[in-house]
Amino acid sequence: MDLKQIFANNEKWIQEKLEVDKDYFNNLSKGQSPEVLYIGCSDSRVTAEELMGVNPGDVFVHRNIANMVPNTDLNVQSVLNFAIRHLEVKHAVVCGHYYCGGVKAAMQSADMGILNPWLRSIRDVYRLHQGELDSITDEEQRYKRLVELNVQEQCINVIKTAAVQKAVKERGLQVHGWVFDVKTGKLIDLKIDFESILEDIMKIYKIS
Ligand code: CO
Repeated sequence: MDLKQIFANNEKWIQEKLEVDKDYFNNLSKGQSPEVLYIGCSDSRVTAEELMGVNPGDVFVHRNIANMVPNTDLNVQSVLNFAIRHLEVKHAVVCGHYYCGGVKAAMQSADMGILNPWLRSIRDVYRLHQGELDSITDEEQRYKRLVELNVQEQCINVIKTAAVQKAVKERGLQVHGWVFDVKTGKLIDLKIDFESILEDIMKIYKIS
């Protein structure tokens, strides 16, 4: 890719936006009040805004390898905290995707160096659901199911946090688990029942 093209694209995009609304960028500069927090994978095929058909200002985005929400990752935890407590988003979304390289790597027994601890959190998801996953004989189906279960477990990690517990109770924040199918372009809602998950885990994770 010629990087000059990116700057040419940018100029074209500015003109297109200004033709519709001459104050477009001026208005953007005034601040943001997104209603959705999106935690997705860094995979280049899984764009956040484009696949959802949303505009700048609509969604607060965090992306990392395999859309993880590790309890001690200061990066994702800061994004989560800021989005919930300060931006007061109405929806927190964890979006995984089929054919995820991070999830695939966690299913193989390769030493990935610095990536090992990151991938280990996905292996933990496998261990938690080993019975179900091992019963799936088709490897592609097992891989797809692990993608879904990983989204579910990362949603649980979102729900565990004090900020989310409080926001669900006080202002009806909703937590969603989605999967993007790279092969069809379809966005699938896993219909995670965050309210019963919250109820189930409260005995252990209740903050106040
Ligand atoms: Co991925």
